[in-house]
Amino acid sequence: MSASVTVRVPAKVNVQLAVGAARPDGFHDLANVFLAVSLFDEVTATPADGLTVSCEGPDSDQVPLDRSNLAARAAELLAARAGIEPAVHLHIAKNIPVAGGMAGGSADGAGALLACDLLWKLDTPREELLEICAELGSDVPFSLVGGAALGTGRGEFLTPVDAGRFHWVFAVAEGGLSTPAVFREFDRLTAGTDVPAPEASPALLAALASGDADALAAVLPGSNGLQAAALSLRPQLADTLAAGADAGALAGLVSGSGPTTAFLVRDAESAAKVAAALEASGTCRATRVTSSPAPGATAVS
Ligand code: C5P
Repeated sequence: MSASVTVRVPAKVNVQLAVGAARPDGFHDLANVFLAVSLFDEVTATPADGLTVSCEGPDSDQVPLDRSNLAARAAELLAARAGIEPAVHLHIAKNIPVAGGMAGGSADGAGALLACDLLWKLDTPREELLEICAELGSDVPFSLVGGAALGTGRGEFLTPVDAGRFHWVFAVAEGGLSTPAVFREFDRLTAGTDVPAPEASPALLAALASGDADALAAVLPGSNGLQAAALSLRPQLADTLAAGADAGALAGLVSGSGPTTAFLVRDAESAAKVAAALEASGTCRATRVTSSPAPGATAVS
């Protein structure tokens, strides 16, 4: 019997993020088209005396190792439901940018949840795991499910959608952006205006299903309702978007609440070229070459 369980979890990009007005609870209703991309964190759960978290990877110094880490909270919530102690060490091998708008923290929450469920042999029904995910955060259910999905409500109600294969380059920015701060900036920028109810774009869903990169590129501009807010807080992102366009990307957008930017490219060869040009431009800290869709949280050992 294995003494530990390792789960691999994908990052996401939102090919559409339609944002409604702030609700009474402070959240925003969304029409959120999630796409999981082949950039993964791995969470390993090992039996221990108490609940501890460690992290390795390029940005690991920015990851909180206390109970504010979504992986730790996932273990606590699952253990509480099962009436057991969260006696587990969680090790995160981090590849997804931290506070980058790619659901890295959410991925670790979903990964820890599945890893602990397997380690503790709880066999929790999928529906219950998804409920715990929604309690952890708006993007966590999608991290568990992966693939491509429309998220409504605050993003936690998921409907799978069809998606062909696409290639992406991500430009990682220096420093993160706080998601609540970006939503607050959205509220400030839209104050006094009539914010329409968010709706998924039929043209975007059709382009996604077609697997036709040119069709998707045609509908991506303007699809992220948080982009103006992210650019307002981090004006330098406009330089990264311009550098990606100059490098030959088919389309570029801010990933979720940013500050990572996402570039749709035609194929793997073009991805390598665009990534090299972005790195040479000096407008980002690093790049990641990926494709979509990617599977959700999956046990790898
Ligand atoms: O759900 P999660 O904890 O990831 O959300 C982080 C913050 O992002 C919330 O506290 C809220 O400020 C903002 N948010 C929002 N509307 C959403 C999702 C998140 O305003 N649908």
